[in-house]
Amino acid sequence: MTHAVTLAHYLARIERQHGCAPLPLQQLLMQVAGACQAIAAQVDAGALAGVLGAAGSENVQGEEQKKLDLIANETFIAHCHWGGQLAAMASEEMETPYPIPAQYPRGDHLLLFDPLDGSSNIDVNVSIGTIFSLLKMPDGRSSVSATEEDFLQPGRRQLAAGYCIYGPQTTLVLTLGHGVSVFTLDRPQGAFILTRDQLRIPRQTAEFAINMSNARHWAAPVRRYIDECLAGSQGPRGKDFNMRWIASMVADVHRILCRGGIFMYPWDQREPERPGKLRLMYEASPMAWLVEQAGGAATNGNQPILDIVPAQLHERVSVILGSRDEVTRVTGYHAQDASPR
Ligand code: AHG
Ligand code: MN
Ligand code: MN
Repeated sequence: MTHAVTLAHYLARIERQHGCAPLPLQQLLMQVAGACQAIAAQVDAGALAGVLGAAGSENVQGEEQKKLDLIANETFIAHCHWGGQLAAMASEEMETPYPIPAQYPRGDHLLLFDPLDGSSNIDVNVSIGTIFSLLKMPDGRSSVSATEEDFLQPGRRQLAAGYCIYGPQTTLVLTLGHGVSVFTLDRPQGAFILTRDQLRIPRQTAEFAINMSNARHWAAPVRRYIDECLAGSQGPRGKDFNMRWIASMVADVHRILCRGGIFMYPWDQREPERPGKLRLMYEASPMAWLVEQAGGAATNGNQPILDIVPAQLHERVSVILGSRDEVTRVTGYHAQDASPR
């Protein structure tokens, strides 16, 4: 008889096979999964639990906070701050890192998260999610005095990254640097069960995801790429493309991990000083690692997202990720472009 592989089982197994998930990291990931499960229950209850609607506040980035943004943030803190694995945590919804309270033991890990991704979709019952990234404190730094600078590490240094999508199924997608695995929440059992292993993104695709309403603001290389897709079988690509835009990065990236595609949230000229909309440390970097681990590519147009050394916790970045051949093509258009972006 074959037994279902739970997340806990999987983590123990990947540690045996690759040595990439020592016990504190396993414990931390189980806490993260517990937080996601608790958020899933709130999402599921929706109006019945009074969690829909605006919170009446703004985050550090000037974006309106939804009740569920704050509930998810608090849920993450409550599940992860007591266990002794963390030096600090940081999130989209907190201006500065959250230090572990003095009454709890500390460890040398750093947790970054986007508690609720796709906030504009909460109230209309469309898939939303949580994105997370785990780092180690830099060498020589004490876990009792973690600062914002300790978080400013390139995505290549992530120990684990993933997301949980609250959609028709609640699904946790995870990498520890040895491929991408998918776990489906078995609610009666209260456990995430391994349902797909070693996801691979097809190299080629005929599906793109971008917010087309911004087309007039894009830089020339992005415009060229999308114009060529739109020209379809009559154009230089010689094939028809399909478009999807869910406006929840988790959902768009999940589709790409499952069946291929290219996702772009590029720089645009409305705010020339802002590199993009999405945040590097808790949106782009974890997704970039998942995509690379599944055989895809992720770039800001000029360099791999995972190589970018952040200068600020809430730094933004232009994001182009997904099927390798398409991302390579867009990168090539950027390299050929003479304008500064
Ligand atoms: P968040 O809800 O965490 O602020 O992130 C929303 C992001 C991302 O999930 C999505 O791809 C993008 O914003 C959608 O932006 P538009 O509404 O501009 O399409
Ligand atoms: Mn987000
Ligand atoms: Mn968010």
